[in-house]
Amino acid sequence: MNLKSFTLLSGMALLLQYCGTPQAAESNVTPSSSRVDSLLSVMTIEEKVGQMTQVAIDLILEDDETTVVDMEKLRTALLEKNVGSILNVKGHAYTVDQWHEILNAIQEVATEETRLGIPILYGIDAIHGANYIAGSTLFPHNIGTAASRNLEMARRIAEITAAETRAAGIPWNFDPVLDVGRQPLWPRFEETFGEDVYLVKTMGAATIKGYEQDGLNQDHTVASTMKHFIGYSMPETGKDRTPSYIPETMLREFLLPPFKEAVEAGASTVMINSGEVNGVPVHASKYYLTDILRDELGFEGVAVSDWEDVIRLHTRHRVAATPKEAVRLAVEAGLDMSMVPLDYSFYDLLVELVKEGTISEERLDLSVRRILNLKEELGLLDNPFPKEELKSRVQLAEYDSVAYDASLESLTLLKNENDILPLDKGTKVLVAGPGANNLGTLHSSWSYTWQGSDEDLYPEKALTIVEALRNEIGEENVISRSVTDYGAEENYDIDQLKADAAGADVILLTLGEKAYAESPGVIDNLELDPRQLALAEAAAETGKPVVLVLTQGRPRVISSIVPDMDAVLLAYRPSTFGGAAIADVLFGDYNPSGILPFTYPRHSGDVVLYDHKGTEKIREDQPNTYGDGGFNPQWTFGEGLSYTTFEFSDLQVNKPTFGPDDELEVRVKVKNTGSRAGQKAVELYSRDHYASITPSARRLRDYTKVSLAPGEEKEVVFTVSPEELAFVNEAGEWVTEAGAFDLMVGDQKVEVNYAL
Ligand code: BGC
Repeated sequence: MNLKSFTLLSGMALLLQYCGTPQAAESNVTPSSSRVDSLLSVMTIEEKVGQMTQVAIDLILEDDETTVVDMEKLRTALLEKNVGSILNVKGHAYTVDQWHEILNAIQEVATEETRLGIPILYGIDAIHGANYIAGSTLFPHNIGTAASRNLEMARRIAEITAAETRAAGIPWNFDPVLDVGRQPLWPRFEETFGEDVYLVKTMGAATIKGYEQDGLNQDHTVASTMKHFIGYSMPETGKDRTPSYIPETMLREFLLPPFKEAVEAGASTVMINSGEVNGVPVHASKYYLTDILRDELGFEGVAVSDWEDVIRLHTRHRVAATPKEAVRLAVEAGLDMSMVPLDYSFYDLLVELVKEGTISEERLDLSVRRILNLKEELGLLDNPFPKEELKSRVQLAEYDSVAYDASLESLTLLKNENDILPLDKGTKVLVAGPGANNLGTLHSSWSYTWQGSDEDLYPEKALTIVEALRNEIGEENVISRSVTDYGAEENYDIDQLKADAAGADVILLTLGEKAYAESPGVIDNLELDPRQLALAEAAAETGKPVVLVLTQGRPRVISSIVPDMDAVLLAYRPSTFGGAAIADVLFGDYNPSGILPFTYPRHSGDVVLYDHKGTEKIREDQPNTYGDGGFNPQWTFGEGLSYTTFEFSDLQVNKPTFGPDDELEVRVKVKNTGSRAGQKAVELYSRDHYASITPSARRLRDYTKVSLAPGEEKEVVFTVSPEELAFVNEAGEWVTEAGAFDLMVGDQKVEVNYAL
């Protein structure tokens, strides 16, 4: 009986089955419903292996140019190779109508023609919005959302992304990135929530809750994917997919907590890091994939490989002498599904491995049960078809206003000499530089294409900085010769800049990075491109005030030009309404409130993070570098200016000495002492005076954001448990050692003592 008749006939009986009692769990056996058990009990080895096989849409489309499914190719995938999951787009975003056609064709064959009628699990990268649905509004990349310090915003962005993705008929999203951004060269830095583990873990969990809400079987939720487990973001050279060397204490204290929190938040799936950690490719590591992920974190969902990574255990990492050995290693390590994705090698080789007895059928059952559970939880076993009525749930005006607010809240003002900003709306501005007329730089990775660099695919509502400024202050006040092509000579024409500056009151210089994703974004030098630095120097030489607007995914070193800039506004990758949001901040319609989610280095050879160790920046040949004197970034984590001023006072704790069963209540007052309404991110940090593992200079423990009218004061209350002050000791255990800690908010500090 195939699924459709199964579903139609079912009625109450099926409902009872669906609610059936979970089976007793052995070690690592995820409980499942009797419907899943019934399916599993009749599946052949081939059908099981097929469920573990994920291929790209390339294998089922007529050709590279079309979105039309080739029915013969589809039948090969589903009927001959029993494929259970498909992913991705070919080339660029599809319309909702195209998505429905594709998914209808796929699910029709899956439910009507395969022996058991098990639907296909379709997965997509809906990163910073439903970027593979043509025309959808995009939100700032995670790095900007983290700057907003607004957890509600992170959650809302995910909710909207989920609703649109599901409306297209896609139930699985490969997001969020939970990698901690501690290597600024890494080209996926913009996809991270920054350098601090607490920020990443809280933003990540909020995102997962937004995707999955209170259940996957709904028209507005999708399965989320915590990725990339683990250690991807810290390659030693900074290049994508290159080796990391991560001591166990660092892994546990700085990289693992976001995944632990994500599992607790209910994340349904995980994607594995393509790289290798300490010489072990993560896809081949039983330690990471089973001992830590399953046994320690208690994760019961689906573990999918990243792109082609099983094959690469043989071809790139060379830990497997043959492709077959690569499959064995990954499956034995604990992988549930292989994103093969451009051939059927995983399927063929795994079938062989099981038939010859190298891998047991019980091992397959572990993974297949998880995959079928997910299909059931998503409601696919009841109805896998896209719903016509959901087509109207995409691209709503209310989504635009959230995206606009998110862009505004992300913008981070780093310098504002003599309060040059906000500018008067009558100011005549010269908008120069490569970012002025380019949409890719505002959006970057995963924006209608993987690379985000196809300017023709952006919706009309996405405005470049120049277009947005013309709307803001009128055509007559905006001079710009910048062209769309980021690298074009015209965008770096120093003589022209000088000539045009003569007719302007202020130069708005738009520098940073063009769009990129993954490896094409690899750089050898954190310094900003010399052509851009030369442009900034030329702008300064004109004698006109220069306001630097940076659209970039990572902190490109600009120390040689910062002293000459009157203001610096960091916009990260603000996306659809980024241009408009930048214009609002520059001309005072919005008071900026973003603060840095990373430390902005002053020199590329001096990348020291805010939570560095005490000795990380001492210079024995220089006085005053003990303490924190040697810490010399351009701007540190948490910095960001406002058009108003804030003052903290009265930082107090309820118990100066506390024990294991106590919870500290930390209170602080924050006042808007300026003349404009504004929002202030309030962050609580701690510093451990002495510890058996050298303590960090400071660590973020909590944060919130308050809105204050001029003159208004509010009290913020944080609670801190001893566990929240813990660190990972030499034995790999979380401990809070007795002794003194400083608790700090802004310029306020209070000392507390932990007594065992
Ligand atoms: C990326 C993943 C992504 C996958 C599927 C890979 O190249 O590393 O983050 O989910 O492709 O598109």
